[in-house]
Amino acid sequence: MRRTLSPFLFITSLAFGGVLHAADKEPIQPITAAKVANPAMVELGKKLFFDPRLSRSGFISCNSCHNLSMGGTDNIKTSIGHNWQRGPINSPTVLNSSMNVAQFWDGRAKDLQEQAGGPIANPGEMAFTHELAIDVLASIPAYRSEFRQVFGQDKLTIEQVTRAIAAFEEVLVTPGSRFDQWLMGKKSALSKDELAGYQLFKSSGCIACHNGPAVGGNTFQKMGVVEPYKTAMTAQGRSAVTGKDADRFNFKVPTLRNVELTYPYFHDGEAATLTQAVDVMGRLQLGRTFTPDENAKLVAFLKTLTGKQPQLVLPILPPSSDTTPRPVPFD
Ligand code: HEC
Ligand code: HEC
Repeated sequence: MRRTLSPFLFITSLAFGGVLHAADKEPIQPITAAKVANPAMVELGKKLFFDPRLSRSGFISCNSCHNLSMGGTDNIKTSIGHNWQRGPINSPTVLNSSMNVAQFWDGRAKDLQEQAGGPIANPGEMAFTHELAIDVLASIPAYRSEFRQVFGQDKLTIEQVTRAIAAFEEVLVTPGSRFDQWLMGKKSALSKDELAGYQLFKSSGCIACHNGPAVGGNTFQKMGVVEPYKTAMTAQGRSAVTGKDADRFNFKVPTLRNVELTYPYFHDGEAATLTQAVDVMGRLQLGRTFTPDENAKLVAFLKTLTGKQPQLVLPILPPSSDTTPRPVPFD
């Protein structure tokens, strides 16, 4: 599944392909609206995404760290888990995550369904077990009948839980950004500075790693190509999955869709602002120090990538029953 693209090869192919691909063949493509194949499953997945009873404390839901009112993130450096534990890494957005080549910064889950089982049983996140999560859901009559309706069987399983959550996440896409309107021909959608920012994004080489409909998410790349990145965090990146030393400090290139909303930036959350993130990217990935004016134009372009946020009706969760295992907020 690993698709690594050399930034330099990519730039070369862009240069030679430039004449063939006219303006309608940009290296970034618009996001298309989600098609809801199974509305009942999506609705169930939405409930589960918001249900804190999937955590030991009864307090932490997926939405705690992937807040859909805040671009699908928690807007803090690293997440806070069970018992106020400090998480080891920044929480990426769940918006458009279905477009990722794999899930997590190091890509250790192949897709959204495989990913969704992780946090429930992670002692540093929701600190539950899959068995207990199933016990909780099966003790709630309204959930039992909803699962039966969606999956057509009496037995409730963790695979059904993760499938429903993944089905919900698949509709969390954000089409309609000003940049997409521009891509689709509405030339007035971008200001002069925003357009200059996009040209600089391409000409300086950002596009080599941040491309495709998600403007990232499709390859693993080294953090610190020209100059090493210094961090106090211990995450090793892709090598933790492949065991290969060459993959050390390779991370999944984050999507830049909605990046205006998903601060702070990088896997350690150390860049508080887009200005800082752009400066670090210029110097460390491309060996280039942007002037304040260039930086501002790049930032202006990045802010045009904010799309239409999913419009959700807050789900009303079915109440626990007398037999539902009770939450353990404090150990
Ligand atoms: C305590 C905070 C926390 C909770 C709760 C949590 N997550 Fe996450 N999530 C994270 C962090 C941190 C990462 C990045 C971990 C890594 O890459 O090693 C992540 C990664 C992800 C990703 C991968 C995104 C990407 O671009 O790679 C998805 C999808 C996701 N979580 C969905 C969920 C779902 C679904 C739930 C509920 C079942 C959930 N998360 C619960 C913090 C949390
Ligand atoms: C060689 C590949 C590569 C190039 C070139 C590159 N990036 Fe990145 N970019 C990455 C990777 C990898 C990360 C994640 C690094 C980390 O978190 O440690 C990242 C992260 C980011 C982030 C933070 C996103 C987030 O959610 O945390 C922004 C913003 C960004 N890049 C913008 C740019 C801009 C602007 C340029 C051009 C000046 C650029 N990038 C060039 C690979 C690249």
